[in-house]
Amino acid sequence: MKRVLIATGGGDCPGLNAVIRAIVHRASKENDWQVLGSIQAFNGVLWEPNEIVELDNKKVAGIHFQGGTILETTNKGGPFAWPVKNNEGIWTTVDRSDEMLRKLQHMNIDAVINIGGDGSQSISQRLYEKGLNIIGVPKTIDNDLSSTDTTFGFQTAVQIATEAVDKLVTTAASHNRVFVLEVMGRNAGWIAIHSAIAGGAEVCLIPEIPYDINKVNAALEKRFQKDRGFAVVVISEGAYPEHGSIVSKENTEIGYENVKLGGVSRQLIKELAEAGFRHDMRETILGHLQRGGVPIAYDRVLSAQMGVKAMEMAIDGDFGKMVAYHHPDFVSVDLKDAIALPNLVTKNNALISTARGLGICLGY
Ligand code: F6P
Repeated sequence: MKRVLIATGGGDCPGLNAVIRAIVHRASKENDWQVLGSIQAFNGVLWEPNEIVELDNKKVAGIHFQGGTILETTNKGGPFAWPVKNNEGIWTTVDRSDEMLRKLQHMNIDAVINIGGDGSQSISQRLYEKGLNIIGVPKTIDNDLSSTDTTFGFQTAVQIATEAVDKLVTTAASHNRVFVLEVMGRNAGWIAIHSAIAGGAEVCLIPEIPYDINKVNAALEKRFQKDRGFAVVVISEGAYPEHGSIVSKENTEIGYENVKLGGVSRQLIKELAEAGFRHDMRETILGHLQRGGVPIAYDRVLSAQMGVKAMEMAIDGDFGKMVAYHHPDFVSVDLKDAIALPNLVTKNNALISTARGLGICLGY
């Protein structure tokens, strides 16, 4: 019997369970593959005692429309940066990757499928370089992974953000206010630009295009005649003004290496007031609502296709690769290429000209 181990790492994302189910279903069509899952990314392998679960068709029945991941996840630590307290009682990290590889060998694991975003796939590549038979499946609501047309979870996040714009439009219109909706995406403006277009926002600010506050001010002023009017601004959490910097929060979590974003909507309101904008403004930070709940049908289909492809790569021994969607096909690409560059919105992207054509102010 051959054994494949699944891990889900990084932030959760709608569609993770649908990928797990697809891997298990595809494996069950073979007579010689058993599927296991590691709890909380690779922590399940490293913990003493370990936390590894067996997965079969019965265990994954009906999980394709559940949010989150039945295997749990973490975006802290990992085999290369395992948090430990040193002799002085200070938290630090140690590299446990060699030990993890020995443990996997001991467990007779023939292949690992690591479902995760850029951070998780960097770990996949490093483990591959150490000799592990590993395959990556791209996961992120941010859609910031290159080498694949898109990632599952992203369209669900766009749908949730668009519904938020729709709701804010009616309250903005009733109160003659400006609502600033802050959406996720880290350094990529994909969620913002999609939801701004879908929801009919007046302004959309993304990290890839530092904004000029005077341009934003002028666009909003135009929406108010004789003191009556309303507008919705969609701002990506990683957006920042020209000559300014990203708004981040203090990070005290051990082993959490990402910059914690959040709060740019409040900053924008302050900057607009300083620039002379005098109408009512309110902010809404959508936050983790974008990551929870059921995946929309599009993401379930994408997840199913990626899960089946990942298992077929395991059967074929196609390691050191990541599943990628190159419409209309699912292909395998080198992990090292997949993590080389992020997928960001460029000024020549068709979405930018669409937004401009619609009259959406992009802050430049
Ligand atoms: O990468 C996905 C994401 O949701 C980002 O959009 C966001 O900045 C970050 O994760 C939030 O991370 P956490 O769940 O650790 O607060």
